[in-house]
Amino acid sequence: MSPLEKAQARVRELREQINEHNYRYHVLDDPEVPDAEYDRLTQELQALEADFPSLVTSDSPTQRVGDTPLDAFTQVKHKAPMLSLENAFSDQELEAFDQRLHERLDDVAEIEYACEPKYDGIAVSLLYENGKLTRGATRGDGATGEDITQNVRTINTIPLSLRGDRFPALLEVRGEIYMPKAGFEKLNIQALSEGTKTFANPRNAAAGSLRQLDPKITEARPLIMCAYSVGVSDGGSLPDKHADILQQLRDWGFLISEQLAVVSGVLGCVEYYSGIAEKRNGLAYEIDGVVFKVNRLDLQQQLGFVSRAPRWAIARKFPAQEEMTVLNDVEFQVGRTGAITPVAKLEPVLVGGVTISNASLHNKDEIARLGVKIGDTVIVRRAGDVIPKVVKVVTSRRPEDAEEIQFPRICPVCPAAIEIPEDESIARCTAGLSCGAQLKESIKHFCSRQAMDIEGLGDKLVEQFVDQKLIKSVADIYSLEAEPVARLERLGEKSAANLVAAIEKSKNTTLPRFLYALGIREVGQATALALANYFLTLELLAEASEEELQNVPDVGPVVAKNIVEFMHSSNNKAVISALLKAGVKWPKVEPPEVDQLPLDGQTIVLTGTLNSMSRDDAKARLVALGAKVVGSVSAKTDKVVAGPGAGSKLVKAQDLGIEVVDEDAFLAWVDELEAAH
Ligand code: IVH
Repeated sequence: MSPLEKAQARVRELREQINEHNYRYHVLDDPEVPDAEYDRLTQELQALEADFPSLVTSDSPTQRVGDTPLDAFTQVKHKAPMLSLENAFSDQELEAFDQRLHERLDDVAEIEYACEPKYDGIAVSLLYENGKLTRGATRGDGATGEDITQNVRTINTIPLSLRGDRFPALLEVRGEIYMPKAGFEKLNIQALSEGTKTFANPRNAAAGSLRQLDPKITEARPLIMCAYSVGVSDGGSLPDKHADILQQLRDWGFLISEQLAVVSGVLGCVEYYSGIAEKRNGLAYEIDGVVFKVNRLDLQQQLGFVSRAPRWAIARKFPAQEEMTVLNDVEFQVGRTGAITPVAKLEPVLVGGVTISNASLHNKDEIARLGVKIGDTVIVRRAGDVIPKVVKVVTSRRPEDAEEIQFPRICPVCPAAIEIPEDESIARCTAGLSCGAQLKESIKHFCSRQAMDIEGLGDKLVEQFVDQKLIKSVADIYSLEAEPVARLERLGEKSAANLVAAIEKSKNTTLPRFLYALGIREVGQATALALANYFLTLELLAEASEEELQNVPDVGPVVAKNIVEFMHSSNNKAVISALLKAGVKWPKVEPPEVDQLPLDGQTIVLTGTLNSMSRDDAKARLVALGAKVVGSVSAKTDKVVAGPGAGSKLVKAQDLGIEVVDEDAFLAWVDELEAAH
């Protein structure tokens, strides 16, 4: 064999192996070899192709990213029109659809439907000629789209050549290109840090990523394509049911929905819809409904089309998550630690079945990023159980008298000045507990279940007590008496007596609860526990220096400084001694057993894939260090370890402000704890 022949044989072998690994990783979600092996094979192929340029082919896995940006996209005419779908917004509309089909198909007792999620992305048409990808196009107006071949080639879930050999000579595969939620969050965080434009939602991000003239930009975006149908095909045969065609596409190398199901009759559809609605927030990608398609192709043919949509399919849409409304005003709320949050006061609007009249604007930077003014028409978004957000301004609807949003210089609740610390974007009221708002919030925190756990002393009641000056500091809670409480609050004698009993009961607490209840900035439950275990008494903690505090696990310089400042304030000292005098007490803290574990009391969530070990191994190491490893993120989670592919859990952790670490940081942390232990 000549060197060229030898190289040729090896190149063929490498391409086959690389394509197979790629398929197992991206389509089957079941990689066989570690990434390092994949990289080695790719490098070997690149080297051979560099030595023997005549062996380079356009479908080689090394040729995904072209290096010449386009000047403009060219228009392409679709071989068959790309249709849209009829929508159903209720089960009744779905039943009416099924009924209409039965009227046209009178010899079918029950219709079988193929069910898939309705992906919220961009429709794409991919043309394969003799098994090679020759064209990728957007839907456009359904008849004509834009040629985005260069860009679709960069997407790993789109095969450059079909697997196997029994495919039609001409095959047009259709599907949706989308950006997973986690990738979208990451892209936006990166854009924020670089000061570039962020995207309002994953769909816009996917569209923006495909509309790039330079394929290198598209390549850097986390895009996925999920195949959902065949457009045209010629010179080969296809199965005679939709779901079987999808399985066939999977064998040819395409990702298809892992939620694909075949159900019987409209009841099956209704059940599928509610199942997916329940799973929705946990899916790694956004969907805006589900699609039902008559499974038998012969029936599809019989049913045909109406104007621009097939009669044999329907989209059962979820209630919209985004709506347009007007920003009437902005109010500024003061939190427990004085942080000022701008809150959008909106013209009430129904979003996903809930009336929204407030939405968070987060902080000054967010207002600047949105460029929003009072009077603007804005898009509000309420996804799942997440707090509604203003995501975009409809600038074309800006009225002439739109007003700039003025950040207050003095606290909206008390007359103190507002400061924006240099390294933060959060404005704060500087008055501490003499600010009524901060007082209310810190009393609510003090009474909460995880803190002093005073049953019956809820937010509303706390607000009334503070407004009526019955409570001026947390210590005053312990001098409330049943009789005036019952009289003032119209609580009724019984409830007032219960409340006083609950207050009395809360005096018997624990040191960690007490420390947490004090509401020292950034001292959460886990830190309070660590402080109690380290210092054993309140006195020793109160005297500790910043240096000494940093010996406590998880206490860094910022938390240490917060604790010292808190303990040295004469106001706080007075409150603490009043609480003790009122009878708040706790059992002596026993020094923890010598072999107490470093992660005792911590709750950790693992999400996405880890490269260096399996999730089970990671979990075992954490558990051995004393941590609790759980499956879902909540306010009680201390840390989230997120690897590639992390989806809704990562998003939720970010929403809740929970610390998120990547695999490298996780390993460094666990190594250190194991070494110290
Ligand atoms: S089938 C003739 N299946 O929804 C049937 N479409 O409103 C054509 N879409 O532009 C579409 N997920 O981009 C189908 N599983 C799915 C889909 C889906 C998302 C999009 C598609 C189309 C739009 C129709």
